[in-house]
Amino acid sequence: MRLMGRRAFALWAGCAALLASFAAPISAAEPFKIGLILPMSGPFASTGKEIEAAVKVFQKTYGDSVAGRKVEVILKDDGGLQPDMTKRLAQELVTKDHVQVLAGFGLTPLAMAAAPVASQAKVPMVVMAAATSIIPTKSPYIVRTGFTLPQVTAPLADWVLAHKEQKINRVITLVTDYGPGIDAEKVFVKRFSAGGGTIVESLRAPLQNPDFAPFLQRIKDAKPDAVFIFVPSGVGTSVMKQVAERGLVKAGIRVIATGDLTDDNEMENIGASAQGVITSFHYSAVHDSPENKAYVAEMAKLGLRANFHSVGGYDGMHLIYEALKKTGGDADGDKLLAAMKGTSWTSVRGPVSIDPETRDIVQNVYLRRVENVKGLWSNVEFDKVEKFKDPGV
Ligand code: PHB
Repeated sequence: MRLMGRRAFALWAGCAALLASFAAPISAAEPFKIGLILPMSGPFASTGKEIEAAVKVFQKTYGDSVAGRKVEVILKDDGGLQPDMTKRLAQELVTKDHVQVLAGFGLTPLAMAAAPVASQAKVPMVVMAAATSIIPTKSPYIVRTGFTLPQVTAPLADWVLAHKEQKINRVITLVTDYGPGIDAEKVFVKRFSAGGGTIVESLRAPLQNPDFAPFLQRIKDAKPDAVFIFVPSGVGTSVMKQVAERGLVKAGIRVIATGDLTDDNEMENIGASAQGVITSFHYSAVHDSPENKAYVAEMAKLGLRANFHSVGGYDGMHLIYEALKKTGGDADGDKLLAAMKGTSWTSVRGPVSIDPETRDIVQNVYLRRVENVKGLWSNVEFDKVEKFKDPGV
C-alpha cells in the first residue's frame, strides 16, 4: 500500500472491479468440458471406438456448442480391464482438466472404480456402457444412458415362458463371470424357474481370456432345449464360432441370449452361424425409425455399424446437452444432475427417459431374431415390452 499510494490503489481497485464485472459473461462462455473415459485399446476396444464415433456423430449433427458454451470432449483410454487406471484418469480429469461431467465407462468394474471420484467432485457421471444393475447406487452423481442386464434379460425369460410352441423347457445358462453376467444369470434363473421352466445347470466363464469349448461340450452332452448366453460386447464372434464348431444347433440345442452376443458390429463376422438365434435387447441397427436410419448412415460414414454401446454414448451426449440447456449453461454439478433427472426423449432406439429416483434409463426392450436383411446379418425386432424399467436382481 505504501509503495502504491492511496490514489493509485483506488484506481487499481476500480479497474479490478470493472474487470470482475466482465468476468461473469467471459466465464459463462468458457468451454464446457466432458471427460470421456473409454477402452480404446485391449479386448474391449470396439466399445470405445463405437462410443467415440457416436460422440462425433452427435456433435456433427447437433453442433459443438449448447446454451452459449462450446462443448469440449477430452478422451482418455483406460485399456478396458484396469479399474485403478480408470479411477486415476477420472481423478486427473476432474482435478487437472476441470471437466464438469465424467462420461463413458465401458465395463462394470471400471464404472464402479470411478464412482467415488464423481461423488467427491460432485460432477455428474454419465455411464454409457457398463450395465450391472447396482451401478447407479454407487454414487448419487451417476446417471445411466445404456441399459441394465436385468432389464433386457427379464423380457426374454418371459417371452420363452409365454411361447410354449418354442418347446424351450430345459435351459442351461452360460454367462461371463462378473457383474453383468451374474445379473443376467440370476434374473433368467429366477424368472424362468418361477414361471415353471427348468434350469438344468448354470455355468460361468472367466472374463479374461475365456475358453468356451469345455463349457459348450458340457452343454452338448447335457442336451438341454436351449442355452441362455450372456457375454460382453466384443466376445460374441468367438462364442458363436465355437457354438458352430461343437454343432450345438445341429444337436437340437437352441441359442437364446441378450443382444450382447449378437452385437451388430460383430454380425458380419458371426454371420450365418447365428441364424435364428433369439435375443432380447434395447437396440438394433435395423430398428425401423427415421431417427435410427439417419444415425446408422452417419456411423457408417465413420466406418462402423452402429451398435448398442454407441447408442448409450449418443444418448449420453443428448442428456448432457439437454441438461445444459435447462440450466442455461450453468455447469454446477448438482444443477446439471437435477436437470438430467426425469428427462425424456426420442432416441434412435425408441422412446427413453431417465427415472428421477434411480437415475437409470427406462426404455423399450425388443425381442429379435437373427436374419439376413439385404445381405447384412441383422437383429430383426418382432415383439417388444414398452417403457421397461430395470427390475433389479
Ligand atoms: C459391463 O461390463 O457392464 C458390460 C460390458 C459389455 C456389455 C454388457 C455389460 O455388453
